[in-house]
Amino acid sequence: MSTEFAPTAKLPELKSKKPCWPLKQLADRLNNLRGVPSLEDLNRWLSRVELTQECLNSYRSFKPSTYARNRVMKNEFAELLVLCWKPGQKTVIHDHNGSHGAVRVCEGVLWETIFERDTEGTLRYKVSHEWRGGGVTGADAPDIHVLGNPEVSGQNLITIHIYAPPLGKLNTYKVGSKEVGSTSFDFYMDGAGI
Ligand SMILES: [Fe+2]
Repeated sequence: MSTEFAPTAKLPELKSKKPCWPLKQLADRLNNLRGVPSLEDLNRWLSRVELTQECLNSYRSFKPSTYARNRVMKNEFAELLVLCWKPGQKTVIHDHNGSHGAVRVCEGVLWETIFERDTEGTLRYKVSHEWRGGGVTGADAPDIHVLGNPEVSGQNLITIHIYAPPLGKLNTYKVGSKEVGSTSFDFYMDGAGI
């Protein structure tokens, strides 16, 4: 069942002088949440939003050494971000520490690698996927994965993400290891994100 939200709310302030109505409408919906939405909600909302290249221009911000994280909105129930990735930029292996998240590819190619822990707790490769424009993928807790723009893509990648509730402390992993690390959300605010 979809999470209820109020019919009206103040729209978020965006950088562009030309309003990106599809993104504003999505942010509006999230700003009016009265509870944490389900993964099915996130997937459905991201599948329906239609974003043009011009619409994304106000969030088209890349960084040389790591992918760029551009926040559209955040409240206690959800967070909406636009991430910009140059070829070769990717996350560390991580889970979402109880949050679920959905990603839509707007431009470029996204590779996702999913891992699982065996009966002894050692991290193992599970499966990989390629997502292109319009593709939506969701990660339900406790999914462990890496997202990135493959070096061989030869093009930039832009994705939009919803996390519910917003990410806080994150768990990190290494293949072939039982070790579980952690990093704070604040660490990733300066030019990177998960
Ligand atoms: Fe993730």
